[in-house]
This record gives sequence, structure tokens and C-alpha cells, in this order.
Amino acid sequence: MDDAAGLRAVLPPVPEAETGSPGSPCAYAALRADGPVTRARLPEGDPVWLVSRHDDVRRALADPRLVRPVIATWPPREGEQWPRRVLTLLELNGADHARVRGAVAPAFTPRRLQDLEPRVRALAEDLTADLVRQGPPGDLVAGFTEPFPLRVLCAFLGIDHTGFAAVAEHIETVLQATRVPLGKTLAALDALRDHAAALVDACARGGGDGLLARLAATPAHEGGLGHEDLVSVTISMLMAGYRTNVQHFGAALVTLLERPGLVRRLRERPGEIPGAVEELLRHVPLMNAIVVLVATEDLDIGGRRIREGEAVMPVIASANRDGDAFERADEFDPGRDPNRHLVFGRGPHYCPGGHLTRMELRIGLETLLARLPDLRPAEPTERLAWNEDSPLRAPLRLPVLW
Ligand code: HEM
Repeated sequence: MDDAAGLRAVLPPVPEAETGSPGSPCAYAALRADGPVTRARLPEGDPVWLVSRHDDVRRALADPRLVRPVIATWPPREGEQWPRRVLTLLELNGADHARVRGAVAPAFTPRRLQDLEPRVRALAEDLTADLVRQGPPGDLVAGFTEPFPLRVLCAFLGIDHTGFAAVAEHIETVLQATRVPLGKTLAALDALRDHAAALVDACARGGGDGLLARLAATPAHEGGLGHEDLVSVTISMLMAGYRTNVQHFGAALVTLLERPGLVRRLRERPGEIPGAVEELLRHVPLMNAIVVLVATEDLDIGGRRIREGEAVMPVIASANRDGDAFERADEFDPGRDPNRHLVFGRGPHYCPGGHLTRMELRIGLETLLARLPDLRPAEPTERLAWNEDSPLRAPLRLPVLW
């Protein structure tokens, strides 16, 4: 056995989410205490440094010496030469990243998102009205947490949501890039690229008020983007802005429904929903071990030496439950203030979709609580089935009564 194979054989696996849960809070609590920067192996055997404390995760995410690898070339495989094709915002760095990010960022400000708010509310009302027509009981996953984020994202981008099923599978494959053979990821990236290119062409021809049509209509001298950049933006949004919200909303509703007193309180005082949304973003152990960074030079994190070329995984779900950063970190406290969670990352690649996600969750909760009085689980939540195969875990069904 060579050194690398020997190392892989002795490393513990990266903690998987606990069965029936979106994350692994217990495993990460142990790591924060006993090995806050420690080596582990991914399902395909590749070694990574797991970083689990809030302070270290916060620094690592914004450290310019740690870059997001090109998806099509990571994890590297001996003898396999893949083209270094950059397809998403996350893979861009420096001036290239700033140029593309600068073109899309204005669309994500709270002020600009106000224009979208009536559409988002109408989508939430339509889906809730369907639930009311068909039930109770009803399934909040099929009836709300799956379709709502998709329709909001499509409204934001200005694309038709009905053709989306064809790409959903490829998105899931790319999100699992650290767990599946690279060839499979590359095939999914090719399919996503073709789909995104067709969407960009349709938006450029058809106009409309969505982000893609607006970007396509902006001339280069006014900060507009070329076709390839637009395709890259589209792939980034489809990959980063859909499953994240499906998973988070589903798991967030489970967290809420397990607290009937809180559901009652939020229905009676909707003004407290934004605080609850912020705490749901912190408390649901989303972004388990998803972000991968590669060291471009030797550096120290939390007193451990990381060598150039080694991979680092800052575990955001763990940072968000760190008792050194949050009082009573495992407790759900909708009034928590300040709430310096890291769910949207940090640094130049900080998630641009944070405010859209907040608005979506707020309006979704306001609508569900107002239209489904006495909303409660139809069966004990510990019996719910979760999609155990995906890195972004969500309940498969959420049967409710009202
Ligand atoms: C619960 C919902 C979401 C979570 C937890 C989340 C989390 C994150 C995190 C942690 C990053 C940074 C990754 C890194 O540093 O490597 C990120 C980046 C990104 N997110 Fe989100 N996100 C969410 C929703 C969205 C939405 C709704 C959109 C778009 C509509 C979006 C678009 C993006 C994009 C484009 C990037 C890459 C930014 C760049 O490289 O500059 N995300 N997201």
C-alpha cells in the first residue's frame, strides 16, 4: 500500500447526517471539542481537513489562499486529464469573479427584491390554496417546499418552471460531486451547460423582466455580460439557488412543527417571523460538508499546518452550533440577537441569494400560518422519511393537518 492509500485507509469518514435529520450536530460537537481541525476522508476516499469551529470556519471561508476548486477537475484522479472548464461563479477568482459578480449583485439587494415580493406572495397563496382545496390532510413537501422555491427562483430569473424537471437530476449529481465518480459529474455539467445556454438564448430573444433577460439586454460597456458568462451565471443560480432552499424549507418546517407553542406565537405575532427565519437559518444543520477549498500555499488553521494542494472543508453547520459563538447554541431561540450565523458563507463568494432566501421563507411562513390555522404534523415527526442519499437532506413527505 502506498502512503496515500495508507492514509486513506486510516482516516475516519466525513460525518454523514444522522438518520432522519438534515445534519450531524452530535458528530460535529465532538469534533469541535476534540479535533477542531482534523483529517477525514470523503466517500470516494479523498482526504480533506474538516474545520468545525465558528472562528476557524469564518476565517477559512474568506481566506484568499484557499480557493474553490474547478468542479470538473476535483477531486483529481491519476491518469485522468479533464479540461479545466470553469462553469460557475464559485470557480472564478479575482478580477473575473468581481466582474461577473458585480453584474448580478444589484438584482439581489433587499430594495430590488421588493419588486419581486408581490409575485412571491402570489405564488405562496396559489400553492396554499391548492393545499386547502385538496385537504386536510396535506403534504407540505409535495404541496409547498418542493414547488415554492423552484417557482420563486424561476420568477427571479425570468424562466419557465415547467421545463425544470429535466435538469433537476443533473443539479443533484453536481451537488454530490465529492461523492460520485468525476465522469458522472462531467456528464451532468455538460447537460446543465446545454440547458442553461438554451435558457439564455430564450431570454435574450423573449425579453421580460427577469434577471437573465435584463442581463442579456445590458450592453458590455454598461457592465453587461457575454454569452458564456450568462450561461455560467445561469448554471450557478440553478445549482446554488434551488435545492438549498428546498432542503432548508422542509427541514425548517419540521423544526417549527415540533414546537406547537412557537407556531401559535408566530401566527399571533407575524412580526416575529423574520427573527424566527434568521434562527431557522442558523439552527437547521444545513451546509453540512459541502464547501470544498484547496490551499494554494502552506498555511495554518486553528494551529494545524495545511500544505499546498490539500483540501479543506469548513463545516458551516458545525460553526452555527458552536457554543463559543452562540449562547445555548443547540437551543432554538427565535429572539436570538445578534445572530452571526455563517449559513450564507463569508468573503468574496458570500452567497448573493441570502435576502431572496429570507424573503421566501418569511412570505412562505406568513402564508402557511395565516391560511392553515392550527397547522400541525399528521404523524410524529421522528417517523418522517428523509432523502438519506443526498448531501442536502430534506424530508421526503411532511403530512400535516390544520
Ligand atoms: C438556504 C438557502 C441557501 C444557502 C444556505 C446558501 C449558501 C451558500 C453558501 C454557503 C455559499 C458560499 C459557498 C462558498 O463559499 O464556497 C453560496 C454561494 C452562492 N449562492 Fe447560495 N445559498 C442559498 C440560497 C441561494 C439562492 C436562493 C441563490 C440564488 C438565487 C444562491 C446563489 C448562490 C451563488 C450564485 C453562489 C456563488 C457566489 C460566488 O461564487 O460569488 N444561493 N451559497
